[in-house]
Amino acid sequence: MEARSGEFAKIGLVMCVMAIAACLADKEVKVKIVKGEKVCEQGWECKGYSKYCCNLTISDIFQTYQFENLFSNRNSPVAHAVGFWDYRSFILAASTFEHLGFGTTGGKLMQMKEIAAFLGHVGCKTSCGYGVATGGPLAWGLCFNKEMSPSQKYCDEFYKYEYPCAPGAEYYGRGAIPIYWNYNYGAIGKGINQDLLNHPEYVEQNATIAFQAAIYRWMTPVKRKQPSAHDVFVGNWKPTKNDTLARRAPGFGSTMNLLYGELTCGQGDIDPMNNIISHYLYYLDLLGVGREEAGPHEVLSCAEQLPFNPSTTKSSS
Ligand SMILES: *[C@@H]1O[C@H](CO)[C@@H](O)[C@H](O)[C@H]1NC(C)=O
Ligand SMILES: *[C@@H]1O[C@H](CO)[C@@H](O)[C@H](O)[C@H]1NC(C)=O
Ligand SMILES: *[C@@H]1O[C@H](CO)[C@@H](O)[C@H](O)[C@H]1NC(C)=O
Repeated sequence: MEARSGEFAKIGLVMCVMAIAACLADKEVKVKIVKGEKVCEQGWECKGYSKYCCNLTISDIFQTYQFENLFSNRNSPVAHAVGFWDYRSFILAASTFEHLGFGTTGGKLMQMKEIAAFLGHVGCKTSCGYGVATGGPLAWGLCFNKEMSPSQKYCDEFYKYEYPCAPGAEYYGRGAIPIYWNYNYGAIGKGINQDLLNHPEYVEQNATIAFQAAIYRWMTPVKRKQPSAHDVFVGNWKPTKNDTLARRAPGFGSTMNLLYGELTCGQGDIDPMNNIISHYLYYLDLLGVGREEAGPHEVLSCAEQLPFNPSTTKSSS
């Protein structure tokens, strides 16, 4: 046993020397104390001195082979975004949110659960694994990067002053958690510093931007004083009395509520909801965390929840 772990240490060292720049950049943790709190930076991946950069980073706990396992069919000849999605783009996108706590909150188990939860949404929303697909319906995440036959341009004139549609631009579904409508492209573009209102096509041309847009939605409340999907998942959020009356509880179920509202939640045990949950559980298994860590069904589900943001007239998704 002893010799064996020694050998691995040697191999690790050799690999580290071979890729010395990357190795140092990855592993050097700079620590400061600011107002009595320990804050850190870790190389290029976790910048901006934050408490969230003191623990493991995402690339420490989620590696290339795990990404390949989760999305094993994305480059199959029948997939619809062959060559588009890759691990590096995900890590680059994630690195711009790690200092805010994305995938860096609460220690290794919670970090892995959050990656599985976020990617569970992504996998389900970009899947082409219907029916009797090879490898099962859950093995086809990241098969799409855009809506294939849009029926409209998704230009809502109500927002013509705040988010005017660019001439010729179409705001159909694109990305890792698809974005629709000019106002969503406009708001998310602002959030990630990309002019998506004038260039919605960036989302289907650049996988880093596609992942960034999805992580931005995961990390950002839709309305002020509301939690984000990240907040309800990692336990940053305390439900109000109204939330409890509306059966909204911390956990995976409420992430679906925040991202999709009544399209997915409050409708009983419907397929669109169960498919998202199934992807999350499958990914927990593949990551070696195990689905039993996901907690009981009432935490996972939003079947009985009233929406955080009821849609009035609009059918945005
Ligand atoms: C860092 O990891 C520890 C131990 O797992 C955990 O208790 C702590 O909450 C983590 N720090 C942050 C900022 O999430
Ligand atoms: C994709 O977008 C990222 C983030 O803005 C940028 O750094 C990168 O250069 C872009 N890639 C290509 C191929 O344009
Ligand atoms: C709670 O719900 C009631 C009834 O829907 C509403 O009038 C009230 O403003 C809500 N309170 C908060 C804090 O959201």
